[in-house]
Amino acid sequence: MMNFQGSHILSVSQFDRTAISRILQVSALMAPYAERKKRCHVLDGAILNNLFFEPSTRTRVSFGAAFNLLGGFVRETVGVENSSLSKGESLFDTAQVISGYSDVIAMRHPTMHSVTEFAQGSTVPVINGGDGANEHPTQALLDLFTIESEMKRFGKSLDGLNIVLMGDLKHGRTVHSLSKLLSLYNKIKITLVSPIALQMPESIVSALSNAGHQVIITDKIAGNLACDVIYQTRIQQERFASKDEANLYRGHFSLNKRIYQEYCKEHTVIMHPLPRDSRPEANELDTDLNDLENLAIFRQAQNGVLVRMALFALTLGVDEKLSQYEKPVTWFTKK
Ligand code: CP
Repeated sequence: MMNFQGSHILSVSQFDRTAISRILQVSALMAPYAERKKRCHVLDGAILNNLFFEPSTRTRVSFGAAFNLLGGFVRETVGVENSSLSKGESLFDTAQVISGYSDVIAMRHPTMHSVTEFAQGSTVPVINGGDGANEHPTQALLDLFTIESEMKRFGKSLDGLNIVLMGDLKHGRTVHSLSKLLSLYNKIKITLVSPIALQMPESIVSALSNAGHQVIITDKIAGNLACDVIYQTRIQQERFASKDEANLYRGHFSLNKRIYQEYCKEHTVIMHPLPRDSRPEANELDTDLNDLENLAIFRQAQNGVLVRMALFALTLGVDEKLSQYEKPVTWFTKK
């Protein structure tokens, strides 16, 4: 069993199924705190430094909320321009300094493998909040948590899952990390729907095939969406040379109620890591899907709090002490 305490969380490749089961199990324990049924102050006095050198809403805010929900303090740096990285300081030196001010660090950066480079200079655990087009391990874990909980409604599990990943599979780090995690399960059917130029990297396709899974690669929606879960992604404009180049692919793989009803199954669950691009030229996940019970995108985003709470508890070694540090909630709450 992986020893989480003091470990960096940099890639999903660190995990085996036992480690993932433990993360999902601790995530479920966090629900009463996230739902404000009880408080937990097991991290009272601890400091998270949230370093976000690339735009983020969900990952940055949910890391912060997760740490606060366990009683800890959060400090934030947002944007390279607000950091001495803009004066030429190295990631290693920055890590040496910031880790002296922190108990744990969460970091997002536009360059692939930059978070690993940073972690080499850190004396405290570093959690990867997304490094360029490489990986987004905490998103993949919350996606897996979501798939497992959504599939339970239909008496299904992760083994035997029939999943479609659709959109910009070349640059989408969430689908890279999720595919790697899914490869650990049994008998997955995974259909990769994308423009030919934006196909999933060959190394990830090979890893899935070599693990015995059925992989279908296509640039056609018709006939390919009858699945348990459809996971839509955004055209990652920030990874293209220009907006014009990204525009070549925008809007070609949109999902709306008509397409859903024509090609998906009655119970197909719709996921998306968000943000969805709701501009008319993209409209990749139409708002006409908003009234469908199977649209799981906001439950998925909420699960990010649970999974990030679990990762803090595990890396800081308090996952078995939660109940000793509970308090009642004293304010009005609708949750
Ligand atoms: N899913 C995700 O990473 O969202 P943000 O970019 O808003 O953090």
